[in-house]
Amino acid sequence: MKCREFGASGIKASVVGLGAWVIGGGVGWGEEPDDNESIRAIHAALDAGVDLIDTAPVYGYGRSERVVGIAIKGRREKVVVATKCGLWWDDCRGSFFLEYDGKRVYRSLRPDTIRIEIESSLKRLSTDYIDLYQTHWPAVDPEKTPIAETIDCLLELKKEGKIRAIGVSNTSFEELKENIACGEVVTLQPRYSMLCREIEKEILPYCMSNNIATLAYSPLEQGLLTGKVGMDRVFGPDEWRSNTDWNPWFKPENRVRVLAMLETWKDLTAAYGCTLAQLVIAWTVAQPGLTHALCGTRGVSQAVENADGGRIDITAEDLTRITRDVDALGSPW
Ligand SMILES: NC(=O)c1ccc[n+]([C@@H]2O[C@H](COP(=O)([O-])OP(=O)(O)OC[C@H]3O[C@@H](n4cnc5c(N)ncnc54)[C@H](OP(=O)(O)O)[C@@H]3O)[C@@H](O)[C@H]2O)c1
Repeated sequence: MKCREFGASGIKASVVGLGAWVIGGGVGWGEEPDDNESIRAIHAALDAGVDLIDTAPVYGYGRSERVVGIAIKGRREKVVVATKCGLWWDDCRGSFFLEYDGKRVYRSLRPDTIRIEIESSLKRLSTDYIDLYQTHWPAVDPEKTPIAETIDCLLELKKEGKIRAIGVSNTSFEELKENIACGEVVTLQPRYSMLCREIEKEILPYCMSNNIATLAYSPLEQGLLTGKVGMDRVFGPDEWRSNTDWNPWFKPENRVRVLAMLETWKDLTAAYGCTLAQLVIAWTVAQPGLTHALCGTRGVSQAVENADGGRIDITAEDLTRITRDVDALGSPW
């Protein structure tokens, strides 16, 4: 498994990370995960060389962090634990974000809510430090905490030894630069897959020149790029994958085109002795400036399959061919 640095933090992590959103369950993910299977999946990923786990308090309102905490007991030092702050549901501090699974969630990067969040995360993860602490979404009006105030709070947490490094997620290019200017931000977690490449224009080149690691989220386009979500797969009305504003690739007319493209890569998966998911993961972490892929994982077999994607090197010629094919699909946005 290849490993790459989180900027200048001194922390190195496997290029394939385990994304623990689905492990939190909830109506957005359809079939409820089994916690014991999730723990086995995390162990299988660690055994296969993955040492990066990305979670967040809001994933299952604490459930994902708790499951990760149980799974890493006895192996804490070998794991790079990444979690987040900024999506808050204890009270109505912050700016309203969404109502989900019976709770109202607010975007808050106020120092007082972050101070409460970090203690809850440490408890749920059964640890006394977090390796990478990321702001989940930027603050917005009406309660738009200045970026400098949030970063000051995170720098204090770092000084206190509660976190080892600071990251941000879901920022615009301008917000990213402002966060970095305030100090010690070493990672960005953006949405990125071969079907969603907006950040290639400005953000990835900037991160590459400024030594910022980039942790791609939803790199498998929520399973579509594994080839295992066929035309017959139906998602419930409350599932994330039914939200075709967020993910227009799941619309039947787009899904059919993606599946047809994946069909044409059979010679590639045969040549590399890999699955489609592994080919997609290997393409993703081979993109300039893209350092890590956080692959959402439900169960042991997905964990092992995704981990092995981190071992494959695709030739320059094949990378170009794959990129040409995805370019030909155009954008559904
Ligand atoms: N910062 C943010 O705002 C943000 C937002 C989204 C995600 N994330 C992070 O990024 C991680 C990954 O994103 P994601 O879960 O949205 O999307 P993803 O990694 O693109 O897709 C995950 C889904 O793909 C399917 N899958 C994964 N591996 C598979 C395999 N080998 N074979 C077949 N199907 C497979 C599973 O679907 P089934 O459920 O159908 O089995 C799984 O739930 C999250 O867990 C989270 O850590 C962060």
